[in-house]
Amino acid sequence: MALLRSKSSLLWFLVVVTVHVSAAEQRPMRRMTLAEDDVVWESKRNTFSLRSSKTTHRANAVGPEPGDVAAAFRVPTLDGEFIYQPGNLKGSLVIHAFTNKSGFLECMWSSESSLSSLVQDLPDSTHVLFLSQDDSAVSDALWMQEQVQRAAVTHSKKEVLSRLHFSPVPLFALGNWIPSVLYYWSCIGHNCGFSQAVFTSKGWKMPVIIKRLDARYDWLMGHWDHKSYQLIDAGDGCNASPSVSGAVAWVSEGNCSFFTKVQSMAKSNASGVLVYALAGNPIQDMNCVGSECYTPLGIPAAMVHLEPSVAQALRSGQMVNVSFQTTPSPNFFISVDREGALAEMGCFLYPTFSFFNWQAQWFDFYADLWTKLQSPAKVVSVFDKVQMQGDKGAVATVDLPLGLLDFNTLELDASLSCPGRGDWSCAPWDHTVQLFVCCDHLSPYCNMELGRWITAFHRGTGRWLTDVSPLIPLLDSNKCTFTMKTVPWAKPWIVSLNLRFNLRNQTGNGVDELHPFRVTSLYNGGTFDKNYNKQFHPIKFSVPTSTKKVELYAVITGHGSDEYGCGEFCVTSHHFLINSAYNNTLTFDTAGTALGCAMRVKEGAVPNEYGTWLYGRGGWCDGLQVDPWRTDITKQLSSVDSNTIIYFGLFDGQDPNPSREPGCITMSSFLVFYK
Ligand SMILES: *[C@@H]1O[C@H](CO)[C@@H](O)[C@H](O)[C@H]1NC(C)=O
Ligand SMILES: *[C@@H]1O[C@H](CO)[C@@H](O)[C@H](O)[C@H]1NC(C)=O
Ligand SMILES: *[C@@H]1O[C@H](CO)[C@@H](O)[C@H](O)[C@H]1NC(C)=O
Ligand SMILES: *[C@@H]1O[C@H](CO)[C@@H](O)[C@H](O)[C@H]1NC(C)=O
Ligand SMILES: *[C@@H]1O[C@H](CO)[C@@H](O)[C@H](O)[C@H]1NC(C)=O
Ligand SMILES: *[C@@H]1O[C@H](CO)[C@@H](O)[C@H](O)[C@H]1NC(C)=O
Repeated sequence: MALLRSKSSLLWFLVVVTVHVSAAEQRPMRRMTLAEDDVVWESKRNTFSLRSSKTTHRANAVGPEPGDVAAAFRVPTLDGEFIYQPGNLKGSLVIHAFTNKSGFLECMWSSESSLSSLVQDLPDSTHVLFLSQDDSAVSDALWMQEQVQRAAVTHSKKEVLSRLHFSPVPLFALGNWIPSVLYYWSCIGHNCGFSQAVFTSKGWKMPVIIKRLDARYDWLMGHWDHKSYQLIDAGDGCNASPSVSGAVAWVSEGNCSFFTKVQSMAKSNASGVLVYALAGNPIQDMNCVGSECYTPLGIPAAMVHLEPSVAQALRSGQMVNVSFQTTPSPNFFISVDREGALAEMGCFLYPTFSFFNWQAQWFDFYADLWTKLQSPAKVVSVFDKVQMQGDKGAVATVDLPLGLLDFNTLELDASLSCPGRGDWSCAPWDHTVQLFVCCDHLSPYCNMELGRWITAFHRGTGRWLTDVSPLIPLLDSNKCTFTMKTVPWAKPWIVSLNLRFNLRNQTGNGVDELHPFRVTSLYNGGTFDKNYNKQFHPIKFSVPTSTKKVELYAVITGHGSDEYGCGEFCVTSHHFLINSAYNNTLTFDTAGTALGCAMRVKEGAVPNEYGTWLYGRGGWCDGLQVDPWRTDITKQLSSVDSNTIIYFGLFDGQDPNPSREPGCITMSSFLVFYK
């Protein structure tokens, strides 16, 4: 990814890619970021900033931080009392403080798809405590409970209700530590803060200020300028209306799709669109459907409630102006992980409880990982909270255990955290991180790639265990230098890396006890254009005597974006043809799907990042290790004659042939011989 974005620090919802249509997907994939440079951003625009207020605030104050132990507490609930004591839940806890001052939360709590995701997909280990920030806490709690109960009955998921707890005591009256965390982790980002529309008119003494919900982040790219727009009534907005030129169109919901309204207002040269809900209807998440998503519209739009004074003034011909603002708020969501530590919930890109589920799935993943890390192994620490930045990256020379070749498994236990304890201190962007190893400067193995990860966009919780056992032969001396780095312009990450050596000997299955004793480096990738495959030539090799198994091992990722979204968001296939007969194929078939990477949170992909982490990609996800692809090719080989292998990479079953900005394939590949 990186190339396009390093300089684009001011783009909120940065657009870089709009491409590749596969039948499965709903919308074009677009790259985006939330405010890369908080300070500059804030001075340009007051509608958005990524916790910049918190950053300044934290510089000289001491408050609760992620990772702090959550103390025991009790809160009255509609059913009695919710008691939290370290360890008593045997799972994670999400705490959500609702307020109807937020259009985002109103929508999240009204949308059927959002509610059904909560009742259907909340992990079994997770409890949720629902609070209200307002005087209306009793009615809010009853309303929230009713919304959830209705969804649970609809989906026959009533068992989830025993893990959902609703408190009628308002946040400001709780008297425990929860308010201090929510207030201290206050924010003005995408899913928190109060987004508002401010109306003014000559006859009014005071502005009228109401909540708004901007259209879905990846649909409309336009943004509200920091200025006062004239507001013009345009009926239902389904047809062009010349009078709205240069103004914000005030249109009712209904009679046609959100897309049709925004498109007809854009054609009428409106500067933006405010769609008001009809009386009694909730604010909705304005979105495009299917092929609509491929038509760029270029103006911003938001949904609000019908405000009678505005409608009245417009009807009577008075001039009404509108401007847009965001007021900071306490955080809406915090959590306690399975070890009892306070944790952030990250960014909710759009209003749905799915973001609860993803965060909770990750807590489960992390608890399982922790258990795995307790199992015995010979552990060699390479980096212990070392800063990785710039051309050099992080470098360490370490002694490896004697008798290395007695081990037949090697796992990389790697984590990427941030200079501070909160996500606010984490580097943006999803950059590739590579680990190179050199144990003998004269060895052909020196500086081969041992592991690859992709950074989590503005989140510092990632930790992953990657099995790289086939590459043990790269460690061809007892003193090795490890270099872990990403692009030199990335902001710093704090890396930890342990090598975990082991002997696989549980199954009694002879195959598992084989040891890799030699590797042969095959192909690297390159620019994914019409000449991509011309650079690869057949490699001849013979199988050493006493070899019991031969494996193909490849780490392949696609990056960049040509007009088809290649290689990040297009489906590429990678073929290793052996002896002109065996076509070993790896296809990135989830690249470009709407939730391809959200599906991998259970495997450790960091959830709720501050970018478009959800989309499937070419062999990778934001905040995840790149899994090596391994194929047993023993039966494809001749042990007496020489063998050949050739690689080629295709897009849509053919040589790539982009007309502009070709992407690239980053690859390391090996033959691995076992005895
Ligand atoms: C939230 O606010 C809207 C608009 O003011 C209102 O229609 C709705 O009933 C409120 N919902 C709750 C739960 O208070
Ligand atoms: C109302 O908006 C118009 C058009 O943007 C602008 O020229 C005018 O100054 C605004 N009036 C007020 C009172 O903000
Ligand atoms: C929808 O269209 C009908 C018929 O043209 C019109 O009477 C009605 O006012 C429209 N509804 C809204 C909400 O504008
Ligand atoms: C919109 O603006 C364009 C360019 O200024 C102009 O050609 C067109 O007539 C305008 N359309 C309307 C409906 O005002
Ligand atoms: C492998 O497992 C067997 C049976 O559990 C055990 O006797 C043997 O010592 C193990 N081998 C090694 C090298 O650990
Ligand atoms: C290998 O498989 C791919 C995809 O099925 C196909 O496009 C390609 O032509 C095959 N190549 C050979 C040499 O069989």
